Amino acid sequence: MATRDLPDALAPLASHCTLDVWRGDGAPTPDALAARLADADGLLCLLVDRIDATLLARAPHLRAISSVSVGVDHIDLAAATARGIPVGHTPGVLTETTADLAFALLLAAARRLVEADGFVRAGRWQAWEPDLLLGRDVHGATLGIVGFGAIGRAVARRALGFGMRVLAWSRTRRPLGDLAGAVAWAELPALLAASDFVSVHVALAPETRGLLDAAAIARMKPGAILVNTARGGIVDEAALAAALREGRLAAAGLDVFAREPLPPDDPLLALPNLVVAPHVGSASVATRARMAELAARNLLAGLAGRRMPACANPQVYGVEASETEAKR
Ligand code: DGY
Repeated sequence: MATRDLPDALAPLASHCTLDVWRGDGAPTPDALAARLADADGLLCLLVDRIDATLLARAPHLRAISSVSVGVDHIDLAAATARGIPVGHTPGVLTETTADLAFALLLAAARRLVEADGFVRAGRWQAWEPDLLLGRDVHGATLGIVGFGAIGRAVARRALGFGMRVLAWSRTRRPLGDLAGAVAWAELPALLAASDFVSVHVALAPETRGLLDAAAIARMKPGAILVNTARGGIVDEAALAAALREGRLAAAGLDVFAREPLPPDDPLLALPNLVVAPHVGSASVATRARMAELAARNLLAGLAGRRMPACANPQVYGVEASETEAKR
């Protein structure tokens, strides 16, 4: 069963499976999804589909789940693992595209690009002024990267190219490889206190939910800029909004939110020093096609009883999860 008509994923599946594709408006409701999963062997889903233990209990034949996303916080991995159901995801293929968006948000927030665009379009540009729309320098500034998997490292490479100093925090501290000597590890409080920019790249999990809470945001350097392209639940949005409103932080760039879609009346949207995007980190034509194709290969492997090329719960194959953590 597929929760969306995704041609790049469905084409490779069509010759191997009987496809049941949800073609309703938006995502199926939990009840609609459960009804369609009653007889299904496999599920191709998106990050907006909540695959929890209750739903899994209503899908007795399910043998493989494949999400067209790298994040799997919408899936109860423990419940799937307990049933021996492999969960496929799409690391690697979206790394560079997501890093591009993180850096685009960083630059846009630093140089007030969205404000500047609105200023010109509103006919407010009367003259060149020495203090018009002054922003923050990116070159020579320190970037703190919270979560140093594949995407965090891709952001670090961009930052080094822009002449930034890079600090990194990660729970696992895997070897720095080609970034050794160019990036320094730091404890999270020290990284927050020393960074002019902080970019978030941890997966959302119980241990990272609220990682950047009010206390962490208070530790950030005055005038710093926060970028989040990971998941909304990692950052305390109320504390961030307060810091932006009071000018303790200069700006922020957010692609992800605790509640998506972000309601038009959300207080965050009243902040001129916030640049927002609608969860489009991986949204390039080529990357979305690669994600769909990998998701199809994951599902086919899972249904055939073969190891998925990218499995988020490799414990079903007797492999420790930590071996896969680095891929995000
Ligand atoms: C993911 O894949 O988890 C991103 O958030 C969207 O591509």
